[in-house]
Amino acid sequence: MKVPFLNFHETHQKLKPELMKALEETLDSGEFILGSQVDRFEKAFAELMGADEVIGINSGTSALHLCTRVCNVLPGDEVITTPFTFMASAWCISYEKAVPVFADIDPSTYILDPAKVEAAITEKTKAIVLVHLFGQPAPMDEFVALAKKYDLKLIEDCAQSHLATYKGTSTGLIGDCGAFSFYPTKNLGGLTEGGLCVSKDKVLSDQMRLLRNHAMPDRYSYLDVGYNYRMEGFAGALLNVKVKYLESWTQRRQAIASRYVEGLQLEGLRVPPVLEHAPSVYHQFSVCYENRDALVNYLNERGVATGLFYPRPLHLQPVFEELGYQEGDFPVAEKTCGEIINIPVYPEMEDDQVNYVIDTINSFSG
Ligand SMILES: Cc1ncc(COP(=O)(O)O)c(C=O)c1O
Repeated sequence: MKVPFLNFHETHQKLKPELMKALEETLDSGEFILGSQVDRFEKAFAELMGADEVIGINSGTSALHLCTRVCNVLPGDEVITTPFTFMASAWCISYEKAVPVFADIDPSTYILDPAKVEAAITEKTKAIVLVHLFGQPAPMDEFVALAKKYDLKLIEDCAQSHLATYKGTSTGLIGDCGAFSFYPTKNLGGLTEGGLCVSKDKVLSDQMRLLRNHAMPDRYSYLDVGYNYRMEGFAGALLNVKVKYLESWTQRRQAIASRYVEGLQLEGLRVPPVLEHAPSVYHQFSVCYENRDALVNYLNERGVATGLFYPRPLHLQPVFEELGYQEGDFPVAEKTCGEIINIPVYPEMEDDQVNYVIDTINSFSG
């Protein structure tokens, strides 16, 4: 049996008539930048996550950048984040010429560890960028308490956590502001680049809305240094078609993950915990295994594709060489990079494929 790592081809074939209609409507309307399709998508996503409003952006990376801008992160400020994430979580710090400061992660959830963050706080610390990695909400009570205690801004990277909730509140609405991505492989994957910003604070939302469009409230007056971070009409139109299915796709991801949690029995394989107050939406299902490469080869040879997010922590990337970090600085993140395996989890997976993945992993003998 073959189990690809992702398979959205069939979904797109099934949705093709709807998708083509949405493209045609946009073409006919001439609303290529922002416009009514983007408005509709913003409303639909805001309603799903329980937000008053969200702001459609041209990518998750741009959305994160707007978050650092409205949190007033300035050159020389320190911003603490995780070394175990996609690089864009840290770009938003560098874009403002602030200093990324890394702290280690929790070995079971792979999420930034609040105790390690507290130890890294200095007088220069302005904000924390936390990542709800692989769809697992971060421990927000602890982070909110830290932000209060030290007067810090909390930026949530929700690129992988669509519809995930922490104690009933959607990620992105707990800290000061949040950024989502609609990169095609995400839980809500667009068919173009795409992202959005959200904040429960109307002042910040208004600022993000202004900054995404050149800080130009009306033609041609500019209130600030703005950006062209607008969502395109075609992006909004296509996302409008797919967003209707996001809840059911999320449930299917969670059902597959439950089968993995129950079924995976290989000794030494570490499976992420299931947190009732903060259920994961399983953008990835990630396990750790000491003899990782042998298990990966075994799975790949038997038709089970795997992912490897992330093979190298951010503090050891060439771009951050001047920050002076060394191997051994964040032992949990570094060990995780050497042991992580992402196994297939997507709504299109069939039950027999899920069983096959479980049986193949369990049959590995080292
Ligand atoms: C954790 C994380 N942050 C930020 C991003 C950036 O999003 P985008 O690719 O839409 O710019 C991604 C995804 O690519 C991501 O996985």
